[in-house]
Amino acid sequence: MSLPAVEKVALGAICALGLLVLFLDLPASRVPHRAEVLPPTRAALATAEADARAALARAEREAAAKAEGERLAAVQNPGETEDILPVGHGREEVFARCTACHSTAIIRRSGFSRERWDELMDWMTEKQGMAPLEGEVRTLVVDYLAEHFPPRRNPRNANPFLN
Ligand code: HEC
Repeated sequence: MSLPAVEKVALGAICALGLLVLFLDLPASRVPHRAEVLPPTRAALATAEADARAALARAEREAAAKAEGERLAAVQNPGETEDILPVGHGREEVFARCTACHSTAIIRRSGFSRERWDELMDWMTEKQGMAPLEGEVRTLVVDYLAEHFPPRRNPRNANPFLN
């Protein structure tokens, strides 16, 4: 039995349409069903939040520890050696006793009278917790400081070409 040409074309078109529908539907069937993509549960959300908080706290602690370490390194300046101070009787004692809490920079940039240096020793003991400095060692240290770090002359009276 032979079909008329028009019907052949129509049949062909229907088959092609069927294949097209089948083809288009395939990818759709690969997408997981809605029910498979469940929203996170309350417990999972709480765990994730706790993890994030712990990570943040850890990062903050680490940053604080790092900053403190850098501050201490800058203050104590472990690279310093005794010869950063001018040669003189008492240098060794000053370096040994005065660099436990801060570098010599704080000393080198200071300039005081002997009396003021002497007072400063008491202040360092009373307010900053330095071991009391007494007797001969105190005399040695204060003499050294007064000799090498005297009050600065008024820079306005100083001749910049002679200094
Ligand atoms: C126990 C710790 C400690 C020791 C040891 C110590 N200092 Fe200090 N010193 C401090 C502290 C803390 C400060 C204050 C720093 C600041 O300004 O925050 C200070 C400050 C100073 C200052 C600056 C004072 C000012 O008012 O400008 C000088 C100078 C100084 N010290 C000299 C000395 C000398 C010299 C010795 C050794 C005899 C010494 N320090 C030993 C803790 C110490």
